[in-house]
Amino acid sequence: MIILGIETSCDETSISVLKDGKEMLSNHISSQIDIHKEYGGVVPEIASRHHIKNIAAIMEISLKEAEITLDDVNYIAVTYAPGLIGALLVGISFAKGISYGRDIPIIPVHHIKGHIYANFLENKVELPAIALVVSGGHTNIIYIDENHKFFNLGGTLDDAVGESYDKVSRVMGLGYPGGPVIDKLAYEGNKDLIPMPEPKVGGYEFSFSGVKTSVINYVNKKNMKKEEYNPADIAASFQNRVVDILCKKTIKAAMEKGVKNILIAGGVAANSLLRKELLERSKLKGIEVFYPSMELCTDNAGMIAAAGYYKLTYGDSDKIFADLKLNGIANMGIEED
Ligand code: KG4
Ligand code: ZN
Repeated sequence: MIILGIETSCDETSISVLKDGKEMLSNHISSQIDIHKEYGGVVPEIASRHHIKNIAAIMEISLKEAEITLDDVNYIAVTYAPGLIGALLVGISFAKGISYGRDIPIIPVHHIKGHIYANFLENKVELPAIALVVSGGHTNIIYIDENHKFFNLGGTLDDAVGESYDKVSRVMGLGYPGGPVIDKLAYEGNKDLIPMPEPKVGGYEFSFSGVKTSVINYVNKKNMKKEEYNPADIAASFQNRVVDILCKKTIKAAMEKGVKNILIAGGVAANSLLRKELLERSKLKGIEVFYPSMELCTDNAGMIAAAGYYKLTYGDSDKIFADLKLNGIANMGIEED
């Protein structure tokens, strides 16, 4: 069974070909990061225009690499939400065009489920599991049962983790996206130099605005007094606190739910300290941690095709996302089953 995956929710245009839910025949990603860098973040209108310009050519490349044609495609899995509305519309309209022209059914896929299923492409993941979803727009702890049903245990009350990384980077003039820069720089700094508050939120809720504000206040004070500061110390202190918060709550969720598997999903799953710390701390509790390879951590259509495959196999559970404000937009004419 061949699924064509399409992802255009933010600044990556990507088309993939997935065979039988596991074998990735191609997963071509065209990133616009270099274009948006100049503006310090993603400019929605520019993102949409680049998706339009590139999407057909990217599909051609992906089909060619997979050595198939559209005649071989059984389903089209496309990201329907959340994301930039204009950007999403490009992928959805493209999917609808092929669907109409070739009579191929569409599987609408929630972007966050895509990130979670990236883990299933490379590993033999056993369920039930706890998924830590950490991206530019989301921070959630999700319980997945044996039947691939998703239950949100909690999320951020303010900023998403990736968003705080991006803001911290911006205030120090280190550019966009902030995550990879801060991650690298943190290794050169002293993590104990700048005090970072521990957020006072209970359960599985998160708050990162206090940590972010500590950084902003520190930098502003130094600038006002015309004093030097070492960005690496800030990076290390910030990253250390954020990773500690994420690890504590994720492991607590796994212990309380009695599950033996943790999955990390989303752009921030690429963070080296998060991978290392969560792995080490979980091991002490007899819990296994899975995370996708670097290529599958960033937005890509491979993960969308994978989520499409599991949706087809196990049915829909997207409705839980609608309640969680994870569902940024209406489904734009694509009916969920
Ligand atoms: O999942 P993603 O590609 O897009 C969304 O769906 O939001 O995540 C992008 C986010 C950005 O905020 C970026 O700074 C962050 O992931 N990110 C990282 C790292 N690599 C990317 N954050 C921390 N450490 C990293 N190594
Ligand atoms: Zn994403």
